[in-house]
Amino acid sequence: MDDLKNKYLTAILTAGDEATLEDIRLQAVGKKGEVALKMRELGKMTPEERQEMGPKLNALKDEINSALAAKKVALEDAALDARLAEEWLDVTLPSRARRQGTLHPISRVSEEIYAIFADLGFAVAEGPQIEDDWHNFDALNIAPHHPARQEHDTFYMHRAEGDDRPNHVLRTHTSPVQIRSMIDQGAPIRIIAPGRVYRSDYDQTHTPMFHQVEGMAIDKDISMANLKWVLEEFYTAFFGTKVKTRFRASHFPFTEPSAEVDVQCRWENGSVTVGEGDDWLEVLGSGMMHPNVLQAGGIDPKEWQGFAFGMGIDRLAMLKYGIPDLRAFFDSDLRWLRHYGFSPLGVPTLAGGIHG
Ligand code: PHE
Repeated sequence: MDDLKNKYLTAILTAGDEATLEDIRLQAVGKKGEVALKMRELGKMTPEERQEMGPKLNALKDEINSALAAKKVALEDAALDARLAEEWLDVTLPSRARRQGTLHPISRVSEEIYAIFADLGFAVAEGPQIEDDWHNFDALNIAPHHPARQEHDTFYMHRAEGDDRPNHVLRTHTSPVQIRSMIDQGAPIRIIAPGRVYRSDYDQTHTPMFHQVEGMAIDKDISMANLKWVLEEFYTAFFGTKVKTRFRASHFPFTEPSAEVDVQCRWENGSVTVGEGDDWLEVLGSGMMHPNVLQAGGIDPKEWQGFAFGMGIDRLAMLKYGIPDLRAFFDSDLRWLRHYGFSPLGVPTLAGGIHG
């Protein structure tokens, strides 16, 4: 009994981890352990021997069990001490300056545009960036072989030979949202439709993906005069100064008559200021909606008229915030983003201020 006791108490004391301890427990006091075997021998003993050995074996079992429990606690404490020693943190070090992300100029300018047009009674509408031929071209009165399809440098989606489902393109403008909104909502209607558009073009002022905002107003008594007033209101609010506009006769298949709109500006040392000077900068295409387009949208052109316009958001951001190269907009260069970005908390409103 003393040998047994010494053997196990020593083993328990020197056990280095909990797995070893568990092995020892099984060997000593487990169901088939040495103490259990000894207990089984009690049956063969005389009653006197049994009276002496029984309590001794039970005491041995208790002693081993409490040594195991004590060692287990000791091992857990040691493990915790080791972790605490390793995973310490010097809370007296100076803290790192808090970095805050910035709002991209496109996001900022988009919000400014929403705020101004919301005030003029326009709701925001959206459409898919992968658009079918019909919405992007046909419904907008652009016939299959119309040169406009080439002019737009369209990205076509790949289609397997013999696949006769509708052709899909990356939308070349936001004008297909005119069609979708007319079909969804009918007339009268007043919407703007901001979003990404795609054309295969790349230089200082063109990127293959850029942003437009479409505008459309349909009612019973709409004319070019309404268009002109809305646009002048918009530019004046957007640039924060009375901006002269110039309407030049132009051509789009989906408007008749059509006009391109320039804003007054001054060029100086390669940079441009809007609202002063004697130069003009083209910012937008517009016109009265073509009867075929109204019809494609399920609206009777004998009863309703509308104006529509489309302008580049990126161009507006460059003009308003003096950003020279469009390509940098989409490089995700952190230095650029920190320099040209806006506070995420500065929400533009007409009351609180529209200029970041
Ligand atoms: N969709 C035309 C473009 O991308 C712009 C436009 C929109 C012109 C609406 C007239 C009316 O160039």
